[in-house]
This record gives sequence, C-alpha cells and structure tokens, in this order.
Amino acid sequence: MTKSSAPGKIILFGEHAVVYNRPALAVPVMQVHADVEVLDSPRAGIWINAPDVDLHAELNTLPSNHPIASVINDLFPLFHISPLPSLEIKITSTIPVASGLGSGAAVSVALIRALSLALSEIEGTSIVHPLSDEQVNHFAYEIEKIHHGTPSGIDNSVITYARPVYFIKNLPASNNKDTGGIIETFKVGVPFTIVIGDTGITALTKESVADVRKLLRMNQIHWESVFDEIGQIALMARRAIESGRPDMLGELMDQNHTFLQELTVSSPELDKLVGAARKAGALGAKMSGGGRGGNMIALVEQDQAEAVASALISAGARNVIITKVE
Ligand code: MEV
Repeated sequence: MTKSSAPGKIILFGEHAVVYNRPALAVPVMQVHADVEVLDSPRAGIWINAPDVDLHAELNTLPSNHPIASVINDLFPLFHISPLPSLEIKITSTIPVASGLGSGAAVSVALIRALSLALSEIEGTSIVHPLSDEQVNHFAYEIEKIHHGTPSGIDNSVITYARPVYFIKNLPASNNKDTGGIIETFKVGVPFTIVIGDTGITALTKESVADVRKLLRMNQIHWESVFDEIGQIALMARRAIESGRPDMLGELMDQNHTFLQELTVSSPELDKLVGAARKAGALGAKMSGGGRGGNMIALVEQDQAEAVASALISAGARNVIITKVE
C-alpha cells in the first residue's frame, strides 16, 4: 500500500494577472489536504473510489478526459508495466471543491505521488522513484489544463512544492519543460497570520478566467495596465514578506481586491466578507483565487484572528480557517 497527501493553497496576490505573465504569490494551506491511498485489489482492473465526489468506477469506464483518469493514464506509460496490476485507488479530501483552495490540483499531486510510488515497487519497472518535484509538477500542470483550460500553473506549483512561491508563467515563446512557469520559493522574514473565509458558493475558475479574457479582448491597453499594477503589488508584497514587514501587506491586499473587483471577478458575497474582516480589525483583505465565490483572505494580528473569524461567520461565511504563513 502507498499513501500520499497534498495541501490546499491560497493565492496571496496576483490571481488572474498571473495568467498574463505577471508575478503572483501563493502559499500552501496545511489545515486542508487531499489524501490518496493505492492498494492491491482482489478485483481485476484499476478501481477508483472517491466518496467525496461520489465516484466509484473502473478506470476504463471513465471518459479519457476525466481529470482523475487522465492523471492515471498519463502516468502508466512512464513505468513500462505490462500487464497493469490490479489496484484500488482511494481518494479523500478535506478541501472544498471549486472554492479557490486548489482541490483539483491537490488531488492530482497526491495521486501522482502515491501511484508512482506504488508502480515503482512493481518488479521490472524502469522508472526511478521518487519522481522529482519537477516531474510531479509537470503532470499536475497537464491535468490543470483539463480542469481550467488556460491555467497559469501557480496552483499545481504551490501544491507540489508545499512552500510559499513567487510564480511567473512562462512566456509563450519559452520552450522550458512545461510545468507552467518560473517558480521561486522564498523566505518569510516574520511569520504572519491569515484568516480564510469561505462564501460557500462554488464557482469555476475556468469561467472567471474566460470572462477576464473577454474583457481583455475589448480593451487590451486598459487591462494590460491593470495587470501591470497587480504585478507590481505582488512584487512589493514579496519584498515586504522577505524583509520581515508583513504589516505592509494589508494595504496591498486592499489595493489588489479593488483591481479584482474592476476585473468583475469578485462578488457581493466576497465583498461582504472582505468588508466584515476589515471592520473587525483585519489589516487588509481580498478575495483569493478564481473568484465569483470561493474564498477570501484577511491579514490579521495573531491576537485578532478569532475576532475576525467570528465576524466572518456572522457575515455569512460557511467556514473559516486560521493559518500561519511561515
Ligand atoms: C486560480 O487559483 C488562480 C487564477 O489566477 C487562475 C490561474 O492562475 O490559473 C485565477
């Protein structure tokens, strides 16, 4: 039996603009995770058991573009194993789906690692285990394309490395091995606390990303300059974090949120939670991820975290998570 786990994630700064090659910052959220177990199966075939999404099926009965089937089908040829063993793959997750916390990417990363470990234990396989983080990230990015269409690659990267990342998507002309982009991990000078509030509304990142693309087509000059501003915010935020000045992040979050509202990817529910967090004493707040629903984040002094969390619940948050970035 093999097991693997991958965390959730939040985007601190730069979502959407990152799709257009501006830098963005993301951090793992260890309080939520996707877990995958691979076991020998007494039944012939590759059986997938994912109760959270009500999936109980044999691999061959799933459409080839099914995200879970695609991960598995992409991995098998690497291992040159024939015939394939009979396996049961159990997938569970505490990451809410379509909420901006990276549930799909976390399942992909945990699945890639657990399955590659299980396959590498089979006699005669030619793969060197463990897969490198770069290989894991490459496969996870391929799967993100099925989920999201034109993902930047930031979600799979932060989840694969499980560390804060500063990320810039590859320029189209780049012929690097495709893991999405340039990934720089960086040091957090002074740890800081974030409260995450879930609107409880599910929203597909694919759709908000497509809508931003439509806006861009209508007025490229304007939106490119908005992306530039957001990219500058991400860069300043990285400097503030590295130099141990997390107090500077609050204002940057507020500014970033205003640009995301302009991009039409916030929503009344997200705005309400952002307003409630600020009113309860947060140093700054913004939506996080694809938007239109899902989660928002607020920067807080540690001793205010509980007060901001309860203000979010009173303002309608379905769930809150307090997390430390370090
Ligand atoms: C989603 O977590 C972040 C977006 O910027 C999309 C992407 O980067 O692929 C909205």
